[in-house]
Amino acid sequence: MNITELLSDSPVVPLVQADDPAIAVETSRALAAGGLKVAEVVFRTDRALECLQAVANEVPETIAGAGTVLSASQATAALENGARFIVSPGLDDGVVAVAREHGVPVYPGIMTPSEVQHAFNLGLDTVKFFPASIAGGVPALKALASVFRTMKFMPTGGVSAGNLADFLAVPAVLACGGSWLTPADAIAAGDYNKITALAAQAIDIARKARGINNG
Ligand code: 3PG
Repeated sequence: MNITELLSDSPVVPLVQADDPAIAVETSRALAAGGLKVAEVVFRTDRALECLQAVANEVPETIAGAGTVLSASQATAALENGARFIVSPGLDDGVVAVAREHGVPVYPGIMTPSEVQHAFNLGLDTVKFFPASIAGGVPALKALASVFRTMKFMPTGGVSAGNLADFLAVPAVLACGGSWLTPADAIAAGDYNKITALAAQAIDIARKARGINNG
């Protein structure tokens, strides 16, 4: 399946943050075991690039992308190391251009109508709504979606098992992203079963919210 098909079936994108490639691989495998096969490896540690490369090479069941990509040079490095999509906290033309030159999906962060309009005029069809809970949550998302009728959104930032269904109930939402699926304490304790359980719970919530049959 390609990323769009995977996100239609399992509309949740977990964040993988690690400073050790082995941990990034174990975390991604645990997520995939729970049914989440798209993972955003975030560029927030010194070894994030190695972590991305390891997940891309060693977890074939997962489509690995790079998150927290701040610059065109980071986007280039990510794509040279196996990233199959790019996520940014904000909207940067250089990051968007690099992703598009490589023909991979890019999900830049937006929070305001002007930013969505800029993304629209760059030819993008999907943006990350960030930080979703602080930026007005579901009501703000609905207001943006009613104006930008063709745009798809990926709410991220404050999404959890508790509000996932509310965000996914908005038809313009492609998928939700977040770190609640990969808690640092579970990773520190080596409790990967917990991550698999959180992934399975998210899939269950998402499929009920979307009316998707299991299996
Ligand atoms: C991101 O980079 O997308 C956010 O940090 C995710 O926000 P969360 O930690 O609240 O899920």
